[in-house]
Amino acid sequence: MRGLLPLVFSALASAAAIAEPRQAAAPPVTVVSASSLGGNGCPTGKFSYTLSIDKTVGTLIFDVYRGYVGPTAPPDSRELFCDFAVVFRFPLGCTAGTITAIPGGYIQLGDGINGTFSSQYTISPGTLGPNPANLVFTSAQWGGGGGDYTEVQAISVKENIRNENERNVTFTARSRLFLTAPGPDVTGQFGVDHLDISISQPTVC
Ligand SMILES: *[C@@H]1O[C@H](CO)[C@@H](O)[C@H](O)[C@H]1NC(C)=O
Ligand SMILES: *[C@@H]1O[C@H](CO)[C@@H](O)[C@H](O)[C@H]1NC(C)=O
Repeated sequence: MRGLLPLVFSALASAAAIAEPRQAAAPPVTVVSASSLGGNGCPTGKFSYTLSIDKTVGTLIFDVYRGYVGPTAPPDSRELFCDFAVVFRFPLGCTAGTITAIPGGYIQLGDGINGTFSSQYTISPGTLGPNPANLVFTSAQWGGGGGDYTEVQAISVKENIRNENERNVTFTARSRLFLTAPGPDVTGQFGVDHLDISISQPTVC
């Protein structure tokens, strides 16, 4: 009899060792809604969103989140702010994954101008990994006639949802974009015109 106990323990231990590295796919995380929390980059009426048919991707649409510099640009258009929130709906239990945010829009930078997008993300409830680094665009990449860009930000997320009432999770962004110019005569513009958001590869944790 006494010999059985270590056997049971070692069987459990090896089962755990097998289970540990395998990450079972979790049910998809959907996007419930998105809203502007204010800022001159997303004032009332200038922010909207759409959802993909399966609701796993939200596309945030910013009508006026675009900075300008140059002789004819209004002085206060060099730097814009937008705070926004996205509500996700998580499955019950522990889910880990990656929040993928893909800002995109039109950019054109005269010689020596840089465009920067900076965002601080938080989530409630739950835990996020480190904030992504600022996105910096230079005239070396985006001079000339300008064009459309997209960039990918990835932030790890972990949620432990204990009951049905906790499934709505609010992801909040404090963001700003700004242009830095070498002088007053160079012209440039940089917009965050849209931002796709979704949770990639959710796994059970
Ligand atoms: C979660 O969000 C949905 C959609 O907005 C809403 O209908 C539901 O009441 C919310 N649930 C809770 C517990 O807040
Ligand atoms: C633009 O960015 C480059 C590279 O980071 C930097 O060397 C340069 O000083 C910046 N220019 C301005 C006007 O901030």
